[in-house]
Formats: sequence, C-alpha cells, structure tokens
Amino acid sequence: MRGGDFEVFEAADFPSATQVIQRAVPDVAIIEESLQGTTGVPWQKWLDSIEGFGSTRIIALTEDRRSRTRARVLSAGADAVVTKPASAEELVALIESLCRRIDESSEGDGFEAHKVLTNGWIRALALRDIQIEGHCTRVAALTVDLARYLKLPPKQVEELRYGALLHDVGKLGIPDTILGKRGGLDPEERARMRLHPEHARDLFAGVEGMKEVADIACYHHERWDGSGYPDGLAGESIPYSARLFSIVDVYDALRSERPYKPAWPEDQALETLKAGAGTQFDPDIVAAFLEMMAAPAEKVA
Ligand SMILES: [Fe+2]
Repeated sequence: MRGGDFEVFEAADFPSATQVIQRAVPDVAIIEESLQGTTGVPWQKWLDSIEGFGSTRIIALTEDRRSRTRARVLSAGADAVVTKPASAEELVALIESLCRRIDESSEGDGFEAHKVLTNGWIRALALRDIQIEGHCTRVAALTVDLARYLKLPPKQVEELRYGALLHDVGKLGIPDTILGKRGGLDPEERARMRLHPEHARDLFAGVEGMKEVADIACYHHERWDGSGYPDGLAGESIPYSARLFSIVDVYDALRSERPYKPAWPEDQALETLKAGAGTQFDPDIVAAFLEMMAAPAEKVA
C-alpha cells in the first residue's frame, strides 16, 4: 500500500514485525496471517504477545472468512479484522478511523492520556537497547496471562502490561558504562544499578493516572520479607502490581540464558519460585502462578 499521509514501515515476518512495532510504536499495524510463515508461532498467540504494545492498533488481514476465526483474532487483541482481498480505500478509511479513536482517547484523563508519554519512554528504552526486546515483551505477555488468570479487570490488565514493558524505565538514569558492561559489576557499580527504581520514582513524580505502571517500575525489587529495595517494604505494604510482576520477572530471568548461567528448565524455575513464596514473593500470587503454569491451556483467556 502506498504511504499517502502515513509513514509506512514494512516487515516480512512475525519477528521483524514485532521489532518494528516495538521500535516505531506505529499508530496502526496491519498484520497479515501469512506473516506467520515458518516461524511456527501461532497467529493468535503472536497477536496476544503484542496486544496493546504502546497504543498501536492492530488490523488483522486474513483470507479466512469463518466467523469463529474472526472472533478468535479479535479476542487475541486485534482491533479490526479485514478479509482479503481488501481495497486500499477500505484500509485507508479504517486506519483513519482507528487514528481518530487514538486521538480521542488521548484527550481524556488518566491512563489513556499518558499513553503518548509511555510510548516515548518505550522508544527511549529501545534506543538505549535496554532489554526492550525479548525480556520486556515476554514478561509483558506473561504478566497479562497471570493478571487474566487472576481475573483482574481489563483496565488493570492493560496497566499491568505497560508496567511490565516499562519496569526498568529507571535504567534510563544508569550510565552506559554500567548498563553495557560485560562480566560482573563491582560493588560500587552494583549500588549504582540498584538506584534504578529510585530513578523511576523521579520519572513518575507528578504523573497522575499511572499508578500501576509507576508501582511496578518503583517497587519490582522489593521482597515479601522486607529485604528488598529501594524502601525495604514488606508483605502487603508492597503494591500488589509490583508483587505480581516480580514473580514473572524472576521466572523469566531464571528461564533465560545469561552470560553467567544457562536457561533453567521450567520445573527448576517453578521450584525456585515455590521456595521463595513467603520470603521473596507473595505466597498467594506464587500459588496462582504455579496453578496457571500447570494449566497452560487456561493461560490465555
Ligand atoms: Fe529492575
């Protein structure tokens, strides 16, 4: 499709589409089912992983006319489904309508009004290569799975997704020499790195309507027994969203390969979470997480 008044980015498969959406945070993404290609990533699962990334609205383009498929794609996060062949006029009208909806929602109070700000921070993190690909996307998807499993309201689920994407936004205040250092940090550098939740607190100071996002960015390193940082909060004095997210964050870290360790198998990572229930983590949320992981078919609502 020609650009017209739009700036157009293209992607040939799901991984590069994810990259474009994360880096450019376009207003609208048109996703063809054929992008699934040979990646083996199911169409709905991929859509679900990027649902609500930034304020990007998703148009799903498919040849499948069955209403069941259309319903599944919509429930996976697409804002509209268009059956191929689609006319350029139809697509342009739909894009313009979705852009109007974004403008209208940005004029309101509260969280919607801050999406421009959050999208800017997401771009800033991507520009500094701070884990925005991979870790952030995975923890955002799993945080949403857990939030839905716990039957939290959709608005809170959306805020938790943003919180997960922006959990390390405070690292914007950490020097590149520390962020990009290969090998271990010395004690002074480690102490500097531990300031990132406090940098997040500075970033969110005076920003109303983003409590869940700010709570995750400021308190995801607190521990249930009070031995965490920055404030040494304990038990239920740690904001709920931060308690929930910290479980997902640690799980993903354990399951990922790092320079100093291989990726742990799922059962070992889950055992570690179980062992940390009541000391590092909220035991009730750990129990829900383990239950959800034992019932993978129910993970995605
Ligand atoms: Fe962190």
